[in-house]
Amino acid sequence: MGKRVFNFYAGPATLPLKALKEAKAEFLDFRGTGMSVCEISHRAKDFQAVLDEATALIKEIYGIPAHFHILWLHGGASTQFFHLPWNLALEGRPMTYIHTGSWAEAAIKEAKFFGEVKVLASSEDAKFSYTPRKFEIDRDAAYLHITSNETIGGIEWIEFPDTGATPLVVDASSDFLSHPIDWTRVALLYAGAQKNLGPAGVTVVIIREDMVARARTKKLPTMVSYATHVDKGSMHNTPPCFAIYLSLLALKDLKEKGGLPYIEKLNKRKAKVLYTLIDNSNGYYKGVARPDSRSRMNITFRLPSEQLEEKCVAEAKAKGFIGLKGHRSVGGMRASLYNAMLLKGVKELATFLSEFQKANA
Ligand SMILES: Cc1ncc(COP(=O)(O)O)c(C=O)c1O
Repeated sequence: MGKRVFNFYAGPATLPLKALKEAKAEFLDFRGTGMSVCEISHRAKDFQAVLDEATALIKEIYGIPAHFHILWLHGGASTQFFHLPWNLALEGRPMTYIHTGSWAEAAIKEAKFFGEVKVLASSEDAKFSYTPRKFEIDRDAAYLHITSNETIGGIEWIEFPDTGATPLVVDASSDFLSHPIDWTRVALLYAGAQKNLGPAGVTVVIIREDMVARARTKKLPTMVSYATHVDKGSMHNTPPCFAIYLSLLALKDLKEKGGLPYIEKLNKRKAKVLYTLIDNSNGYYKGVARPDSRSRMNITFRLPSEQLEEKCVAEAKAKGFIGLKGHRSVGGMRASLYNAMLLKGVKELATFLSEFQKANA
């Protein structure tokens, strides 16, 4: 096997090596079928078993109550930005959003096609460096939407707001399965797989029964309606088979390692390594996020100049630390520490950054 780098890309992102090796080993002959998993009919029992096991594992690892359904859909989280309001908007009632940065903004933009959108709180006043905590829930709203982790800005809600009877909808694309969730607070949670679950191509939607019932009251195109996918077990059309299969292997790996208690602890440790380095750098590295809102998944930081940032990214790359350039819309640097990133990789990155500071301060 060629050398594997430490991959800090924000997504698609690093995946568990064990899952990749397993996929490689059985790529040409999946479970003794004499076919690749990419060649099997999605209606074949061998593939149905993959889908069922992956669904069961998400439920088990995340501790999802029985009145939620797990859907495996196409189109990325960006498609959910409009499927969601299309399914859940209610006549004469606003859809409410918390604006925390680029991804919340993208979700808000799409909801506006379906009715009145109210932004209940925004952190724009401080360049989206924090997650707003003080706002009043609109009891009349069709739902409240939050982005649990802003991948670009590097801010995260670890504890979700208590929205009472107003359904809480969460875009958890970039912190999916990274820490336990209080499901009594959630009505719908969605995530593109390509950060914390598997390869690009599949989006998981976890939807509470009453939200499915709401979708049933709407006249919707077949593929748009959540009810279709619930009724057909995510098999109305051909699902993204390979992405689901590889997600299954990653889920098995997560379960074997100890599930959410294990991964939450590890993710906290990894994030702490980099935030400690930032905080102890005498201002050489400046964290973008306010400390109380810091993401454990995407660590965003700046150096004293853009030239130094470019130099740092290039030197890091030469040493095998890949994907540290910040998103093109905000610049700076970003280290994405998703579930599959090893603590060893983060520690080695911290050593590199510390040496870079010494050489360039
Ligand atoms: C928080 C968040 N939401 C939504 C998206 C869009 O996801 P997709 O590319 O799967 O449409 C992303 C992509 O990076 C994201 O990070």
